[in-house]
Amino acid sequence: MTLPEGTPETNSAAAAAPGEPTRKPVAEAGSPGSPVFDELTRQRTKEIISRYPQPRSALLPLLHLVQSVQGHVSQDGIRYCAEALELSTAEVAAVVTFYTMYKRSPCGQHLVSVCTNTLCAALGGDAIYQRLSERLGVGHEGTAGEPGTTGSITLEHAECLAACDLGPVVQVNYEYFDNQTTESATELVEALQRGEKPHPTRGAPLTDFRTAELELAGFYGDLEQSVEGPSAAEETLRGVHLAAEYGWAAPPLPAEPPTLPPLPEKK
Ligand code: FES
Repeated sequence: MTLPEGTPETNSAAAAAPGEPTRKPVAEAGSPGSPVFDELTRQRTKEIISRYPQPRSALLPLLHLVQSVQGHVSQDGIRYCAEALELSTAEVAAVVTFYTMYKRSPCGQHLVSVCTNTLCAALGGDAIYQRLSERLGVGHEGTAGEPGTTGSITLEHAECLAACDLGPVVQVNYEYFDNQTTESATELVEALQRGEKPHPTRGAPLTDFRTAELELAGFYGDLEQSVEGPSAAEETLRGVHLAAEYGWAAPPLPAEPPTLPPLPEKK
């Protein structure tokens, strides 16, 4: 399927199911964020909110939905979430600025995250980040190319990406590329700039940042394809295999739950 540049594949009218609202913008008078978010996004907003007993609990996935539309969380996005969840803009902004997954400026087609936490850094993560930063001509959260267009890349250094046994690790749109070197990471980035989508070491095929954001909000164009691919690596499973080899097992759970001490009285 050919989509306009910067349009998440599963956020387009072409991807909408029969009967599902299409991507025609609908502005509502008196609502500052309204022109930015179309009817399909509003329907998805309602669906996200309906998943939770309290509307405010929907904030995190709703911010991912906003990023799937805009490629970042703008002031309009903050107002949109605040209105939808009856929160203040200050409450929404506090969450947006706390979590690094919410971006304050427009991202490229792909988000490349280089782990520079202790283990990966010692194994070469710092050198990889340095090389990619020079190759792309940008620093942390800088974007090479026009945000959202094919081949544009936002670079960031990240804290532990939870794959220390496979370091140094790079992620593209949160998909893993394990055991990287400066050369392999440079080749990866150059392929992305040419518009290619190299297959991650583990997990699903690459899409783009905005499609990944839509999936984080809980909407999948093709759920099976979105979770396709092995998620575990041999290094990660080594402990399980050793335990099986030596017959190690955790002690069985007690038949009755242990008695917990009484809680102290609240003052
Ligand atoms: S230190 Fe890089 S994945 Fe943990």
